[in-house]
Amino acid sequence: MHDRHSPMETFLELMHVRFACKSFTSEPLGSAQIRMILEAGRLSPTSFGLEGWRFHVVTDPAMRKDLAAACFAQESVASAAVNIIITALRAESYAPYGAFVAQRGIRFPGTLEAFIDDYVGYHQFLQESGRIECWSRSQCYIAAANMMNAAATEGIQSCAIEGFKEEEVIKVLGIDAHVWQVGLVIPFGLPAEPVRPKIREPLEHLVEYH
Ligand SMILES: Cc1cc2nc3c(=O)[nH]c(=O)nc-3n(C[C@H](O)[C@H](O)[C@H](O)COP(=O)(O)O)c2cc1C
Repeated sequence: MHDRHSPMETFLELMHVRFACKSFTSEPLGSAQIRMILEAGRLSPTSFGLEGWRFHVVTDPAMRKDLAAACFAQESVASAAVNIIITALRAESYAPYGAFVAQRGIRFPGTLEAFIDDYVGYHQFLQESGRIECWSRSQCYIAAANMMNAAATEGIQSCAIEGFKEEEVIKVLGIDAHVWQVGLVIPFGLPAEPVRPKIREPLEHLVEYH
């Protein structure tokens, strides 16, 4: 029997199935499933390939409770088998001649010097326009989207959560607020509610062809 769906059609169908799930069953996720979700994050693109992020995986019930409190007691966070918090580096780590950029930059073909030469102008542009931390943080959304879609392939639902008190999330994770900012909190688990159909504008309202 032939699969009548192209890979793109299959992917778009999957995007219809993923929804912002607000309540999860108590079923835990397997460590292999969690790892695959993380892998989807790891493979996501970042500006200059710098990967200025870290993925915190919270499964401990006591920590989950504190995390939910930091997220305005949202049920999705409180009931999720796993919460993944994507954190992003603050501005200081992105200094062109600093240790972080050296460690990341040296992995690429060509010399580290050539990498930094390429990066330094863009860094200066970001710095002058006061956008470094916004640039760092916004990349978390790409990893989040890929993780959420990857999870949906296994019937695992999720919900992007921006409703959190950053200082409290940082405290729960025990990370240094001078080094890290919080991008997103994403609860994952098996849904305790049916798939919610998409409410979206038609493409004609959203697209302009030039
Ligand atoms: C950046 C971002 C932040 C969000 N924050 C929250 C949140 O704090 N709480 C919540 O219940 N849903 C949150 N959502 C979920 C959206 O409301 C939801 O994705 C949107 O309504 C579209 O629905 P769908 O995901 O089911 O297609 C967030 C979504 C995004 C993309």
